[in-house]
Amino acid sequence: MTSLQEDTIIRKLGPGEKIPYDLLLLADPSIIALNAYLSLAEVYVMEQDQQVIGSYVLLANDPEELEIKNIAVNPAYQGKGFGKILLQDAAQRARANGFKRITIGTGNSSIAQLYLYQRQGFEITAIKKDYFMIHYQEPIYENGIQCKHLILLEKRLN
Ligand code: COA
Repeated sequence: MTSLQEDTIIRKLGPGEKIPYDLLLLADPSIIALNAYLSLAEVYVMEQDQQVIGSYVLLANDPEELEIKNIAVNPAYQGKGFGKILLQDAAQRARANGFKRITIGTGNSSIAQLYLYQRQGFEITAIKKDYFMIHYQEPIYENGIQCKHLILLEKRLN
């Protein structure tokens, strides 16, 4: 459990607790993809006064690499530094559990996310061209740009 302000915590969701689908799907609208890895992953929630205001999912891709998926902050709380804290929290947990790398993926149109992740020490390692065209039925537009390609970023943990 990470302590922030007195009334804000980040904790792992326990078995049987309500999964914050509304928040997780803000990050990636594919519920099919989410359900496919949820049973293999851990869900973390940020709570303020016992209300969930942010969340992310951690999925181990291999013994050295942990991936952050579906990171999201409730729109009413965005732009206040909580996304940055969630990323730092995930990296801290990955490091504490002996992972060598933490990774995250986003779309080519997610300008603010690319800014935030790089500011937090993630570097672009690969681009999966046409990923969103192939795997998503509906076209996605953000910032007036079509989201076509998946950008993979990684942060090395020491
Ligand atoms: N445009 C430009 N910069 C932005 C921005 C925007 N729309 N939103 C945030 N930033 C910048 C902030 O200025 C800040 O920069 P700084 O550290 O240099 O001051 C940095 O990004 C961190 O902002 P923060 O307030 O911590 O981000 P957040 O709490 O809004 O959380 C997200 C970021 C992406 C998790 C949140 O916006 C969100 O839930 N978005 C919808 C879901 C989503 O897209 N998830 C990611 C999928 S890959």
